[in-house]
Amino acid sequence: MSFDLVFFGGTGDLTWRKLMPALFQAFRHGKLPEGGRVLAVARDDQSDEQYREWLKERFQEVDTPKRPSDEEFSRFAEMLFYRRMDLSQPEHYQRLKAWVDERQADTVVLYLATSPHLFPVICEQLGHAGLNTPRIRVVLEKPLGHDLQSAQQINRVVRSVFDENQAFRIDHYLGKPSVQNLMALRFGNVLFEPLWRRENIANIQITLAESIGVGTRGDFYDRTGALRDMVQNHALQLLTMIAMEPPSSADADAIRDEKLKVLRSLKPFTPESVRREVVRGQYRSGTVDGKAAAAYLEETKVPRGSSTETFVALRTEVQNWRWAGVPFYLRTGKRLAARDAEIVVNFRPTPHNIFPAGSALSNKLVIKLQPEDGLELHLLAAKGTGQQEALSPVFLDLDFDKAFPSERVGAYERLLLDAIAGRLNLFVRSDEQEQAWRWVEPILETWQRDGGDGLRTYPAGTWGPPAASALVARDGYTWSEEQ
Ligand code: BG6
Repeated sequence: MSFDLVFFGGTGDLTWRKLMPALFQAFRHGKLPEGGRVLAVARDDQSDEQYREWLKERFQEVDTPKRPSDEEFSRFAEMLFYRRMDLSQPEHYQRLKAWVDERQADTVVLYLATSPHLFPVICEQLGHAGLNTPRIRVVLEKPLGHDLQSAQQINRVVRSVFDENQAFRIDHYLGKPSVQNLMALRFGNVLFEPLWRRENIANIQITLAESIGVGTRGDFYDRTGALRDMVQNHALQLLTMIAMEPPSSADADAIRDEKLKVLRSLKPFTPESVRREVVRGQYRSGTVDGKAAAAYLEETKVPRGSSTETFVALRTEVQNWRWAGVPFYLRTGKRLAARDAEIVVNFRPTPHNIFPAGSALSNKLVIKLQPEDGLELHLLAAKGTGQQEALSPVFLDLDFDKAFPSERVGAYERLLLDAIAGRLNLFVRSDEQEQAWRWVEPILETWQRDGGDGLRTYPAGTWGPPAASALVARDGYTWSEEQ
């Protein structure tokens, strides 16, 4: 299968930090279909050769599992091309069309790795140039909109040019191997699904913790905040994967229909419940990994006095028969104690205890996304032979890197290959994305009304404001690192 892949924003951070390295990994793993061409387009004037050289230098700054040798990079670079493009100029889209038409590749993937405010204009121009025929797909990077209205506006334009099945909305968390394994765990085994419900599960915790701060992205981040940056998309997508009903098939729409149902079942927020059940925080200075870390307000390009949140913890429920009454806690933040992304499924305690006091009689399943992906099932066992000994947890630990040493595929690599192959399963449909915005909207509105009131602070290098622990403690629970 031949393909052409075009990166709009070809010199941007996302392209050189994430997309090109992922494409390179796919190439190295021999997973890229033969006969592919990759075109980067951007404003600068440079030749193919200059672009290749520039990218080679950028690769030195990227943490790829193994740096390419000169020879390996040269082989990869043979498929790379560069064209200057002014995104507002119709004739530049005609030139792009001519490039694409030079040969009739089976698939053309247009990856919009630009600032999202350009999506409408790019899509319109692509439509005018006739770059929307069925073999063409468009990949849209987050953030897709700033709120429900702007997301709907982007979607309207995308839909006026492309069919929904041609639109690949990326949420890179869906490409993470653990998320694949979550599907496999739930729907490829009989062990868990019978337990996967309110009768057996006490609560579910989704933590997406980062130890990094906002770095050089202060201006972007300050307009965005943790709720838009991580909750509306990544955390909610993970929640849908955990809570969805078994789909009738592995078809993209069968899966996405079930995910949408979960989003529609989320308990809606009111201003009162936002103030009670959503904690927002901002980091002050502190120590992260043994090094002093500045406060958010001291970061470059962050306006002094900003009340943008760098931390969110919230409690919600999925209001249906399977999950009624089970709290789902979501938590994310920058400059937390560790880089740690995981989903913890806390099971209920056994109904009757025959073991000595002090035994912690509940199981938990930990799906780890970061720093390593894996799965940990906490079971209870008798440590010694003594009759009176309390039970202790033991871990059934599955390390996917060890289980499948040569098969690991990174999130962007996986998603790029899926986009080229036309597999939509791991991409977000417009109605899902809009429903997620609809659900976070009351939080955004309440915060806007409240201004800085209710914004809590936390020292960098901790697990966030104490109010986040209090949120969980109100239901009689603790976060997983406190257990
Ligand atoms: C991005 C956010 O979507 O995800 C970043 O914009 C965040 O702020 C990143 O750092 C986290 O992704 P990962 O894969 O490193 O956990």
